[in-house]
Amino acid sequence: MKKLNIVVCALLVLGACDFSFNERKKSEVEHEPQTWETARPLQDIYKNDFLMGNIISPRDLGTVRFAILTRHYNTLTAENQMKPDHIAPAAKPSNTNWEYRFTEADRMVNAAIEAKMKVVGHTLVWHSQTPSWLTEGTKQTVLANMEKYIGDVAGHFKDKLIAWDVVNEAFRDGLTSSDVSGGKWENCLRTESGWYKAIGPEYIEKAFLAARTADPNAKRYYNDYNLNSPTKSQAVYNMVIDINVRHSNLIEGIGMQSHHHLGTDPQTVRDSIQKFASLGVEIAISEMDIMAADGGALNMGQWSDSNSKRQAALYAAMFAVFKAHKSNITRVTFWGLDDGTSWRATNYPTLLDKDYNLKPAFFAVTDPNLF
Ligand code: XIL
Repeated sequence: MKKLNIVVCALLVLGACDFSFNERKKSEVEHEPQTWETARPLQDIYKNDFLMGNIISPRDLGTVRFAILTRHYNTLTAENQMKPDHIAPAAKPSNTNWEYRFTEADRMVNAAIEAKMKVVGHTLVWHSQTPSWLTEGTKQTVLANMEKYIGDVAGHFKDKLIAWDVVNEAFRDGLTSSDVSGGKWENCLRTESGWYKAIGPEYIEKAFLAARTADPNAKRYYNDYNLNSPTKSQAVYNMVIDINVRHSNLIEGIGMQSHHHLGTDPQTVRDSIQKFASLGVEIAISEMDIMAADGGALNMGQWSDSNSKRQAALYAAMFAVFKAHKSNITRVTFWGLDDGTSWRATNYPTLLDKDYNLKPAFFAVTDPNLF
C-alpha cells in the first residue's frame, strides 16, 4: 500500500511538473514578439469569411513588401497604376488608335496572378486622376471617349480581374435627408465631375453597360467613401435600385472605401452594410484605414500608446461587424501596407508601423474578441 502511495505521489508530482512546464511554454510562446513572418497570415484567419486585400505599387515588386503582401493577403488592388491618369494617353489622340500605357499595371497584375492572388481593377470612371481631354467636348464626344476607354481598358484586362470599380466617388458629401427622399439620386451627384458635366447623370449607367460588354466576368462595383453616412448611403442605394430595375444585375457590388478615423461609430458602418445587403448586391470593404493621430486638427492628437490602443479597439469593433455580416461581404481590402507608405502617413492608419512591426491594430484584426 505504502509503495502504491509513493508511486501515485510521484506521478502526481511529475504531472504537476509537466503541467507547469507546458503552461510556461505556452505563455512564453504567447509573449514571444510576433513579426509579420511569424504571425498567422490574415488571409488564413479569414479564409472562411472573406478575401483579405491590400494595395500594390511598383515599389513593392521584388521586395520584402511583396513578401508581406503575399503572406497576409490574397487580393490586390493597384494603388494608382490602373487609374486613367496612368493608363490613358496623356494627350488627346489624333485618331482612334489610342496608345495606352499598360506597362506598370501589367507588371503588377501579372506578378499578383503568378503569386496566385486575385486582382481588383481600380478604377475606370472617376472625377479625379483622369486626363482632362477625356471629358472635354460635346456630350456625344465625351460619351464615346468613356465607352472607348472602358471597352479598351476592361478589354485589355479581360478575365484577369475578379472585379472592377467601374465608377468611383460619383456622389457628393453633405447630402440632406430631403436630397435623398423619394428615391431620388440624380440630384445627389458630384456636379464638378467632368463626366457629369458633359454627359449628365446617365454617365453612370452607360459606364456599367460598357464594362459589362468588355469584361462580363469581372464583378461590377460602385465604389465610394463615407458610405457609413445615412444620407450618402441612401443616395447610392436609390441609384442601385433604379439602375438595376432597368438592367438586371448591372451593378453587382458596392465598395465601401472605409477611410475612417477614431471618431467613426461602427454602428453606422453596420447600418450601411445591412442597407446595402438588402439590395442583394455584394459588399466589399475596399480601401480600409483608420486615421489615429493628426497633431490636433481632427481632435485626435499626437500618435501615442493611447491612440494606438483606441485604433486597435476600433479595428476590432469593425471586424466584429464584418464577421457578423460575412455572408454579404466578399472582401476586406486595406489601403496601405504600413504607416510609412500610407497615403495618410501622418495619421498612422494601417496595421504595420513604418518598420513593418505589427501594431496593436494588427492583433485586433487577428482576434477582435480580445479587444
Ligand atoms: C489615393 C492614393 O492612395 C494616392 O497615392 C493618390 O495620390 C491619390 O489617390 N479614394 C480612392 C483611391 O478611390 O483611389 C485614393 O487613392 C484614396 C481615396
